[in-house]
Amino acid sequence: MYWLLSENEQEMVRDTVNALTTELSVIDGNPQTDQLFPFVGRKDKRKAQSIVRHLSPKEGIVADPFSGSGIHPYAILSIGRKFLANEWEPYTNRLSGAPWRLPAKAELESNYNELIKKIKPELDKLYWTKCTCGADHVFKSLFYDRKPLRYTDVTHHERLGKKGENIEYRGNYKCPYCNCQEKFFNKNDEDHLSLLSSIPTHTIFNTKLIENSRINLSKKFAVYGSLFPHRSKLALKIIWENIQGLGSPFLVKFFLEDVFLSMLPQAKYKDYRSKSQDLHCPPEKLRENNLLFVYQENYKKRWNGMKQYKFTQSPGNPIRMIDFRDFFSALSNESVDLVFTDPPWTDGTAYFERAQLYHPWINYNLKTDRSRLEKEMVVSDAPSRKKVHDIHRWWSDLEVFFHSSYRVLKRNQYVALFFRPIPASQWLSNLNRIKLVARKAGFEPLLSIDVGSSDPSMRIQQSASYVFSKDVVMLFLRLEPVIRREFYEDHDLDQYVYQSAVELQENLKRPFFFSEWRKAFSEKLLSKGLSSVNSPKEELRIVKLFERYCDKIEGQFLPKIETPFSFQLFDTPATERLFTYIPKIIEDLSAKDKIFTYDQFLLRLSEFVENGTRQLIATIENIDMKAMIEPYAEPLPDGLHFRLRPLPTLPKGLTHVLALNPYEFEAFVAQLLRAQGYTQIALLGRSGDRGVDVIGLNPSGESTVVQCKRYFKNPVSAEPIQRLHSFAVTRGAIRKLLVTTSYFTKQAEQEAINTGTDTVNGKELELLIAKYMFDIFGTK
Ligand SMILES: C[S@@+](CC[C@H](N)C(=O)[O-])C[C@H]1O[C@@H](n2cnc3c(N)ncnc32)[C@H](O)[C@@H]1O
Ligand SMILES: [Zn+2]
Repeated sequence: MYWLLSENEQEMVRDTVNALTTELSVIDGNPQTDQLFPFVGRKDKRKAQSIVRHLSPKEGIVADPFSGSGIHPYAILSIGRKFLANEWEPYTNRLSGAPWRLPAKAELESNYNELIKKIKPELDKLYWTKCTCGADHVFKSLFYDRKPLRYTDVTHHERLGKKGENIEYRGNYKCPYCNCQEKFFNKNDEDHLSLLSSIPTHTIFNTKLIENSRINLSKKFAVYGSLFPHRSKLALKIIWENIQGLGSPFLVKFFLEDVFLSMLPQAKYKDYRSKSQDLHCPPEKLRENNLLFVYQENYKKRWNGMKQYKFTQSPGNPIRMIDFRDFFSALSNESVDLVFTDPPWTDGTAYFERAQLYHPWINYNLKTDRSRLEKEMVVSDAPSRKKVHDIHRWWSDLEVFFHSSYRVLKRNQYVALFFRPIPASQWLSNLNRIKLVARKAGFEPLLSIDVGSSDPSMRIQQSASYVFSKDVVMLFLRLEPVIRREFYEDHDLDQYVYQSAVELQENLKRPFFFSEWRKAFSEKLLSKGLSSVNSPKEELRIVKLFERYCDKIEGQFLPKIETPFSFQLFDTPATERLFTYIPKIIEDLSAKDKIFTYDQFLLRLSEFVENGTRQLIATIENIDMKAMIEPYAEPLPDGLHFRLRPLPTLPKGLTHVLALNPYEFEAFVAQLLRAQGYTQIALLGRSGDRGVDVIGLNPSGESTVVQCKRYFKNPVSAEPIQRLHSFAVTRGAIRKLLVTTSYFTKQAEQEAINTGTDTVNGKELELLIAKYMFDIFGTK
């Protein structure tokens, strides 16, 4: 555990993490200029560089078992580290290797020109149309509705003609004779299409694909050819066969083929309302692009993007193409300085399935590859894969990932995950489950950094179901075996050991002997259903943990004072403990007048939820957290952001205190408590109508619950004191405090004495204000 590191080591970790966080916070936007190829989930290279620079030594070795489109290896290399990268999906692997096989410019250009010369006449014929003025033209895009699967009989839509006509947009291709810029799809075009329909297409289009509901490869679309309009199929065939027939050198051929692959999302049925690169096939509202134009555009983009890569030619692709388990097995113990990756997330992005759009052209078929089908790390809803690739399997794959990372990492090095999580419904559970998995493998979760920019290729698909449309970096520190946190299944033995020591001391009211503690601990294990931990073979481990948490004093023991658990009051429900962090989080998020989003708040909050306690998370997910924020931060009119709510400026004298509304009064009391030296103060805000308004630790560190009564004339009765008392009892708070602007009835005073509740009446309140808020009341 982090606290068991030497002070030096702790300081180094803190400095590293602070420097990284600061640097990441100033990187803005996500330029993605290289246009290598379409890929969902591409990361920002500049952020990747920053992460690697801070978390690995100069010339260190950085491993990425899921390197996807290659951003991490490019970033690692560009700042002088060595990478060990791996991506098992064949299309992605091939394209991420592109920078290592760039052809020479002149050679590429002459071959490209020759290709265009060959295919242009044929493609012009495919995309031919006749202007209403009679001139012959080539159209750029055709917008049409496919209902009922014919080009005629269209449904009205604003992107279509006024009377519901399908439209051929010509863009820059306006008619030189009559200057018109758009033309409706007419009889001529229909005849032309039916002429084309008799021309056979490439056999590649007969390829069978996996059926997957998420990407809308329903049975009908599980045949490759059904993804494309007939005319696109003809165009693809012409371009592909001509690339093959050029006889160009290997690197040139690869480049021209890669341009072809990058065009496929635009060649298939496309929704004309979006630029979605998903495999999704819209049922109607379609667009057909002139693929010659697309090919030419993609060629330019690709060349311009690739120019930034000045990697030396290597004989092959340095990115390996194996299962991540095999990738790790090939690495020796403690040989890596940083594991930096973006594992497939649980949102059902089935990378291998999506890539089927490209597979037939690279001579690969997922459907017949048992091993990849079985081992992809994914949650899939493809009918044929659902059973194996459920969420449980995903978590056990993640466990393998962390255990393997532990083995290959050097001491005190990091795992950095750079990813975009989670459907809203499970955001908190997922983040915390990751922490638990990491802890069990010997890592200490350090923090999660919200790095702001969203993934451009996902922009269009973002929906309300994503709480985080933003990227997050999660850091984990590898701990040496002697200071690892110990788990048994999902049970945190460290916590149980400490807890039982504290409880024992409280019961006995004195130091204890080891045997006494051992007995108490056995009972705790039994109560948790963990009798198997009581076996002799675990004894050494248990004794070590005991020593971790207890100090020896003249033959007897006491629990240590400074442990990560020390300030947690075990009887206080975790939700309330969590609330104590809200003011701090909001203060941080709004430092320097910054505004923040609800997502950012949730992300920070998640750091304080330990180990994915299921019940706690469920409770939190049921609370309206926005209402919890509101005492401290006000929502902005855009409905997305919050801004720090300044505590009410202090009124002069008690009459002005009375002018505060009840919430402001609670905030004011909190301020007064802070001035008196209370810490970890939290306003329970609107959720606090259970008899407690404020909680915190008093100056001697005792947990205190506070009730505030802003009354004008009415006295406070015994009832709120009883409620406060019973609240304190059930939550294990040590002190109770009732603050009012008025006074207490006789019964109330008696009740306060009976229950040991501290009271502050109006007169005393005025004195406290004068004493502790002197800076404000000093002039009075
Ligand atoms: C989130 S992506 C990585 C994206 C990358 N960071 C980028 O910026 O492009 C995760 C990758 O893991 C790959 N993958 C899934 N299962 C795998 C396995 N068993 N072994 C290796 N790679 C796998 C997927 O093909 C996918 O490309
Ligand atoms: Zn014309």
